[in-house]
Amino acid sequence: MRIAIAGLGTVGAGVIRLLDTNAALIAARAGRPIEVVAVSARDRGKPRGVDISRFAWEDDMIALARRDDVDVVVELVGGADGPALACSRAALAAGKGLVTANKAMIAHHGLELAELAEGHAAPLKFEAAVAGGIPVIKGLREGTSANALTRVYGILNGTCNYILSTMERTGADFAEVLAEAQAHGYAEADPAFDIEGVDAAHKLAILAAIGFGTRLDFANVQISGITAVRSHDIAQAAALGFVIRLIGEADVEETPQGPRLLQRVRPCLVARGHPLSAVDGPTNAVVAEGNFSGRLLFQGAGAGDGPTASAVAADLIDIARDEVGAPFSIPVARLAALPPAEPGHRLARTYLRFMVKDRPGVLAELTAAMRDGDVSIESLIQQGRGDGEGAVMVAMVTHEGPEAHVARALALLEGSDSLTAPPLVLPILPL
Ligand SMILES: NC(=O)c1ccc[n+]([C@@H]2O[C@H](COP(=O)([O-])OP(=O)(O)OC[C@H]3O[C@@H](n4cnc5c(N)ncnc54)[C@H](OP(=O)(O)O)[C@@H]3O)[C@@H](O)[C@H]2O)c1
Repeated sequence: MRIAIAGLGTVGAGVIRLLDTNAALIAARAGRPIEVVAVSARDRGKPRGVDISRFAWEDDMIALARRDDVDVVVELVGGADGPALACSRAALAAGKGLVTANKAMIAHHGLELAELAEGHAAPLKFEAAVAGGIPVIKGLREGTSANALTRVYGILNGTCNYILSTMERTGADFAEVLAEAQAHGYAEADPAFDIEGVDAAHKLAILAAIGFGTRLDFANVQISGITAVRSHDIAQAAALGFVIRLIGEADVEETPQGPRLLQRVRPCLVARGHPLSAVDGPTNAVVAEGNFSGRLLFQGAGAGDGPTASAVAADLIDIARDEVGAPFSIPVARLAALPPAEPGHRLARTYLRFMVKDRPGVLAELTAAMRDGDVSIESLIQQGRGDGEGAVMVAMVTHEGPEAHVARALALLEGSDSLTAPPLVLPILPL
């Protein structure tokens, strides 16, 4: 099987290295050799740690995608649009297979690409787009395919998990750990997509579509990132028996008006006993709960050249074996278009943290808002002179109650001049 690789960065060079190193076993398992014939990137002369002089070079990725001597195009450029999308469309429209690691592109254009693939009977695969080296798309498309999934959730962004677990271990604050993560290459120079939860949301939208047979709906993922989490939140959580993790979570809820899809990414308190609490550093983990399989945990490296190349090459082997199904498990026309769920009635325990002015009556104001919002407080901790600016921290954990009640209580506090910063609201992940 002859392949072209667009993009020769971390993952592209990793794929070449893997195909070289494991060529014999891959040929045996694929039933035929998998050979790179052509490549493309921005800068032909750039050293890449692998010999690319043996491959044809194309400056133009569309020309690469249309080459007659190529069966499958591997897109490893990145970005939701631009050359990645143009090259992917060109490959599928030419009836060639497409393998990509590009979660942003799949989250935004996955349905269009899947339709193009179906229309041209061309395989489209994107295992590496979700959780790097973890075969979670395979797990959901194949392993749990006989189940109705009740819930899919997990730790989908290694950068956030590295930052949160390092804050937990060292007591350092967010900005300091982010800077250190950037220096070590665990975080991008522009970390916004990671720390604001967008990258995890791309992956969650893909998992939800595959897990629940629904149309991809990235626009309706509710997203909040980790930038407001402070070391004192982590310390409070620890004192209460929790760790803080960025969790992407999706389920389908049956309502009198029909099924609704809930997708959200937010930092949560995870109880020490929960399997996700032990997921440290840049590791990813996905939990899928099936009605017959029970709870399954997929865990491993969510990024890096080796693990990501491993997922890309596994897709190539599937294509070489002719083991290809619908990209989202069922054909696009049969994916359900579900409206987003309104989760206000759902019951949760919630951690709330307020930074408030150090003056009499503030605590009473907070507790009155909770009472008027019908939120019952399980525990409350006040800590003196938290941020050095005369503000104190008040943290509370609520009893289980409807999410809308917490929102109502917080609305009552909106505009209060007792608050020196917006409150932080972290749900407690059910066990
Ligand atoms: N890195 C990971 O661990 C990881 C994990 C999972 C998924 N992914 C996904 O895999 C994809 C590739 O990631 P990566 O980390 O390998 O990225 P990367 O190291 O930045 O490499 C990107 C490659 O694309 C080329 N490129 C970028 N813009 C281009 C343009 N406008 N025209 C032509 N070539 C262009 C670059 O060319 P030059 O080298 O010549 O500059 C480079 O070879 C992304 O979709 C990413 O989300 C990455």
